[in-house]
Amino acid sequence: MPALVLLGAQWGDEGKGKATDLLGGSVDYVVRYQGGNNAGHTVVVGDQKYALHLLPSGILSPGCTPVIGNGVVVDPSVLLSELSGLNERGVDTSKLLISGNAHIITPYNVTVDKVTERFLGKRKIGTTGRGIGPTYADKINRVGIRVQDLYDESILTQKVEAALDVKNQMLTKLFNRRAIGVEQVVEELLGYADKLAPYVSDTVLVLNQALEQDKVVLFEGGQGTLLDIDHGTYPFVTSSNPTAGGACTGAGVGPTKISRVIGILKAYTTRVGAGPFPTELFDEDGEALRRIGGERGVTTGRDRRCGWFDAVIARYATRVNGLTDFFLTKLDVLTGWEQIPVCVAYEIDGKRVEELPYSQSDFHHAKPVYEMLPGWSEDISKAKSFSDLPKNAQAYVKALEEMSGAPISAIGVGPGRTETIEINSFL
Ligand code: GDP
Ligand code: IMO
Ligand code: MG
Repeated sequence: MPALVLLGAQWGDEGKGKATDLLGGSVDYVVRYQGGNNAGHTVVVGDQKYALHLLPSGILSPGCTPVIGNGVVVDPSVLLSELSGLNERGVDTSKLLISGNAHIITPYNVTVDKVTERFLGKRKIGTTGRGIGPTYADKINRVGIRVQDLYDESILTQKVEAALDVKNQMLTKLFNRRAIGVEQVVEELLGYADKLAPYVSDTVLVLNQALEQDKVVLFEGGQGTLLDIDHGTYPFVTSSNPTAGGACTGAGVGPTKISRVIGILKAYTTRVGAGPFPTELFDEDGEALRRIGGERGVTTGRDRRCGWFDAVIARYATRVNGLTDFFLTKLDVLTGWEQIPVCVAYEIDGKRVEELPYSQSDFHHAKPVYEMLPGWSEDISKAKSFSDLPKNAQAYVKALEEMSGAPISAIGVGPGRTETIEINSFL
């Protein structure tokens, strides 16, 4: 039973941080398996609000061991400042474990991310500018720097040299930028070695031993299904696999160990950065969702694009992740609309299409086919059980469940840990 995956079912920012934090009190390990500090998770505990980027949201639960798996890309300066920020607020971070195989986001990866986006001009992806894509590119090109390299100066120097060889040609000749010196990079990276040393460990061994002892391990995805490099709206995606399979490769745990895959699903849809988004709204409804839902990026401060719920996407997420459950978030944000449109299918070049088209061109042409569901006006933020919800809110949840292909086992009615209706237990 003990291994669960919790991941974003849409384009990120579904409320994964809150959901992870809620479960954090009952699990032994919370593991990030992909992505890096492109993630931005807001967690509200009582009157305290935390913004986490790289650390697993389980770090806020005292009994839980947070783990940064091998599939994550780590910016050491961001990690250390996130740790010290939490320490200043009295959060104990001493249990953190970091995989020695995780790749490091170096300063030149951040530079390459920014100059590449500028170079792409109007075709840019709208990345977070945190060096994520270039770091994964170095990993695949076998010129990446891993956490363990910080502990062998000679190897580190050789690897930085190899990585900068081509990049400096590119920076100076193509992008008209100054070359980056090997020594300066090596010196900066070595400066992090001692500070990170207490956390570095063989996380694959630790997690598999924990599972053998029947400990509960929760894998926390960053980003979301439609931002997945293989299954998302390529090329408008991130450079890793937030989908369920990513948990296995990004943490070194076999698929037979995973018993439950929970998709975090917002009661409407948002997206940050460029790329197709069939239900996007450009009117006052979109503005209202943004305002009421507080839809502004935690990492970059960009306004999130907002639109109605898209059941085609939810069904797709169920399929590619093998979802066993959904956690529906932000239902409270929809309070006050007389009628709520829900996208049940697309119209593509005059034809009704029920499933996400594999062709990117088709997806760009997809127009939402809406069904109108009756809204509610009662405040639902204090609801503790499904029956506390107004009838129309219950019907909205049931309709989404039917269209999306997996049971909705929890409902968020506010940002706080306790503002949740639990229907089926996750553990
Ligand atoms: P993540 O990246 O998936 O962790 O999501 P973010 O933290 O970027 O964005 C979700 C936002 O919604 C955060 O500000 C949360 O505090 C907030 N939130 C999460 N669940 C709920 C909910 O059920 N209702 C409301 N009103 N806010 C929520
Ligand atoms: P959380 O974990 C929403 C988006 C960026 C951009 C694309 C590629 O908070 O849900 P990248 O910097 O990853 O190369 O950018 O992916 N993106 C996110 N959008 N939530 C996130 O994380 C995101 N992380 C990356 O906006 O469109
Ligand atoms: Mg976020």
